[in-house]
Amino acid sequence: PSRKGSFVDVPKDLLKEIEELEQLFTVDSDKLKQITNHFVNELEKGLSVEGGSIPMNPTWVMAFPTGHETGTYLALDMGGTNLRVCQITLTDQKSEFDIIQSKYRLPEELKVGDADELWEYIADCLLQFVETHHNDINNVDKIPLGFTFSYPATQNYIDEGILQRWTKGFDIPGVEGHNIVPMFEAALERRGVPIKLSALINDTTGTLIASAYTDPTMKIGCIFGTGCNAAYMEDCGSIPKLAHLNLPPETPMAINCEWGAFDNEHKVLPRTPYDMKIDADSPRPGQQAFEKMIAGLYLGEIFRLVMIDLHDNHEANIFANQDISKLRRPYSLDSSFLSAIEDDPFENLSETADLFQNQLGITPNGPELELIRRTAELVGTRAARLSACGVAAICKKKGYNECHVGADGSVFNKYPHFKARGAAALREILDWPEKTDPNEEDPIEILAAEDGSGVGAALIAALTLKRVQEGNM
Ligand code: GLC
Repeated sequence: PSRKGSFVDVPKDLLKEIEELEQLFTVDSDKLKQITNHFVNELEKGLSVEGGSIPMNPTWVMAFPTGHETGTYLALDMGGTNLRVCQITLTDQKSEFDIIQSKYRLPEELKVGDADELWEYIADCLLQFVETHHNDINNVDKIPLGFTFSYPATQNYIDEGILQRWTKGFDIPGVEGHNIVPMFEAALERRGVPIKLSALINDTTGTLIASAYTDPTMKIGCIFGTGCNAAYMEDCGSIPKLAHLNLPPETPMAINCEWGAFDNEHKVLPRTPYDMKIDADSPRPGQQAFEKMIAGLYLGEIFRLVMIDLHDNHEANIFANQDISKLRRPYSLDSSFLSAIEDDPFENLSETADLFQNQLGITPNGPELELIRRTAELVGTRAARLSACGVAAICKKKGYNECHVGADGSVFNKYPHFKARGAAALREILDWPEKTDPNEEDPIEILAAEDGSGVGAALIAALTLKRVQEGNM
């Protein structure tokens, strides 16, 4: 942390609360190692015929790009928060591309509404985009589209996606267990949108491919955003659940791990009562145990539950005699609220005080501000450290001792110290010796990725069309 907490003026009972929170939220090196080892086994289990709780979904992305892909593609990105449409032109110049894009808000109601409304809304956005960028859409050949649909999906083909379950707080009835592609295409058809879906992809797979496009040492694609997940390239010979297809064992196959589901059976993760409450109150209790401790959707909520608990049930009784009704609204604090607290540069935490005042109508006193800051640090640090276990597990499984990992998402890009905390945890898990020179690269570095859901989706569409043209599946 950049600012040393000054707990000198903090009264004893509050100090005791801080210490208890430290106990609850701190994950030491030994625990990280234990989690990582269990994680490696669970990755294996997910690839087996019996399966485990991590889905390990084959994605039918079966090659890294060469950098010589060309053509114009559309990419649709349906993440957890926004909807984005891009047109990407992969140019003749190696690893170069042009991109135009529009962002649309994904209204909250749609996330828990009716499936038809969702598809209609998406088709409208696509139509609007195509109309803006193509003069006479009636005479446009169907444009190939890479659809980044970032939820766990079973794929028997690259242009199929049977939704296993909604994640990230989505809860739209009638979609789980179904192939979403026909639903999506029917909505396009009704509007006469000249688009042909070539590939359905996950954001992590897009990130992996887009990163490898510009940096061939990128071996893993990760998202640390609203949700949290990773993809890497496996060889078919190591995927027992695909053995019946008799693919040559050395054939590469990108695996979307869906590691958010790690430890759904609660064997190793140090869950707190707050994590349990988040799970119990979520639309899918029992699912995404790992994700619910680290992803952006949940960080502010974990923090909020701690604050409420300390006000309601603990002797310290923080914010005593204040109206905390605004704080009681579920999911009212997003991870940018925690980011702002951790970013507060002032010794007296005046920015944090303003934030509480303006957003929540609460006036914390000095010691309470210290507690707030420390809680944010604990929640943010735990997230970064646990995330590192996933990365370390894939590296251990694949025997990667040196590589780059491409990462994207709001938490990775915007949350203060997330990268440094994750890197420190990796170092502890993998027992790297102390650096002699601080500028020296770590053997495994997690770096900002190229835009996976845009450029990655376009590249995958290009790779798929090439494979089809060559007659390979
Ligand atoms: C959730 C989704 C997963 C996605 C991740 C990041 O974990 O299930 O598919 O990759 O969020 O967006």
